[in-house]
Amino acid sequence: MTVPSEHAQSPPRSTEPPQEGRIYRGLFRGIFSGMDPETAHRWVVTGLRAAHRMGVLAPVERLTRPAPELAVEALGRRWPSPFGLAAGFDKGAVAVLPLAALGFGHIEIGTVTASPQPGNDRPRLIRLIADRALINRMGFNNDGAEVVAARLQRLRARIDRRRAAGQHAPVLGVNIGKTKVTPLEEATEDYLVSTRALAPWADYLVVNVSSPNTPGLRQLQEIDSLRPLLAAVREAAHQAAGRAVPLLVKIAPDLADEDVDAVADLAAELPLDGIIATNTTTTRHGLKTSAAKITKAGAGGLSGPVLAARSIQVLQRLRARLPESTAVISVGGVETAEDVVERLELGADLVQGYTGFIYAGPLWVRRINRGLIRRRRRV
Ligand SMILES: Cc1cc2nc3c(=O)[nH]c(=O)nc-3n(C[C@H](O)[C@H](O)[C@H](O)COP(=O)(O)O)c2cc1C
Repeated sequence: MTVPSEHAQSPPRSTEPPQEGRIYRGLFRGIFSGMDPETAHRWVVTGLRAAHRMGVLAPVERLTRPAPELAVEALGRRWPSPFGLAAGFDKGAVAVLPLAALGFGHIEIGTVTASPQPGNDRPRLIRLIADRALINRMGFNNDGAEVVAARLQRLRARIDRRRAAGQHAPVLGVNIGKTKVTPLEEATEDYLVSTRALAPWADYLVVNVSSPNTPGLRQLQEIDSLRPLLAAVREAAHQAAGRAVPLLVKIAPDLADEDVDAVADLAAELPLDGIIATNTTTTRHGLKTSAAKITKAGAGGLSGPVLAARSIQVLQRLRARLPESTAVISVGGVETAEDVVERLELGADLVQGYTGFIYAGPLWVRRINRGLIRRRRRV
């Protein structure tokens, strides 16, 4: 699997920084940017959880709740907004409702692996501020499927109560990956352990075979490995949940075009409910950050606006090849409502973001949802 040449040459698409809240900009410049990014992340999650527990987010929620006209139909259900939080931010499902209170239409938790694991050594998350980008080599640090399943069971009940009461209730995605120490030949069983534990609580399930930070994982994108893996996960999810759980696969932007086509053909053949495109890239093209800083940052997946051009190419390629019934969730470099609209117009059913949230702060989602509404009212 090689990097297609046009990817290597794609310029970064977005040059204008998105509008940021003044308070968050001050906080980011004054405090967070001088802090280890992972510590800043922990602070934010702890703060959000505390604010939610104390009821501080309830009035915020009235302002951030996606307007009813933003709701979309996809994967056989209603989504409060087409825009959601990508996997990796809340790996352990500890802050789903506080995050939903900011206005996300869906939250994808994970990646969760069968066994708990600490992830790679720190530092493993690096900011490239000039590019509003991140490099991460977290390595699926997570509490393992059993612990996360217990959390999800409680969370499921709370989400369902909120939905029944007409409150904002996020769609809950669950993203699973392979435990690092499990040999590649035993990957399927590893994914099945997670599937059996987690599928019963999921609105949709994602098989992540595209993280660059677990050795060998991306080889599972090869069709001969992917076909039996996805078929087995789909069957196990159905059995464990007692219903058809929508199943998606998340792919890397670094797949060659013909490999993207092959995954699309497999999705149609199985059939799969959808494809999430894309994960982070191992390439380092089009960055403003100095070469010395990029080298110092080391290995890992790059995310942010520099990823947008390839993410869009993959979206277009998938959409051209897939039946309409197969959903595409577009992710990679989304920063503004205009970016979301562009992905939807190119055929994405739903859109996600992660890195934009880090740089733009908690009101980011509200701005995106409001931008989507303004545009809808103009049309
Ligand atoms: C710090 C960090 C951790 C991530 N962890 C995961 C993960 O565990 N599983 C996954 O599927 N994607 C993970 N991602 C990838 C994102 O979900 C997303 O696909 C990617 O960052 C591109 O979107 P963005 O440019 O909006 O950030 C992670 C990204 C970042 C920045």
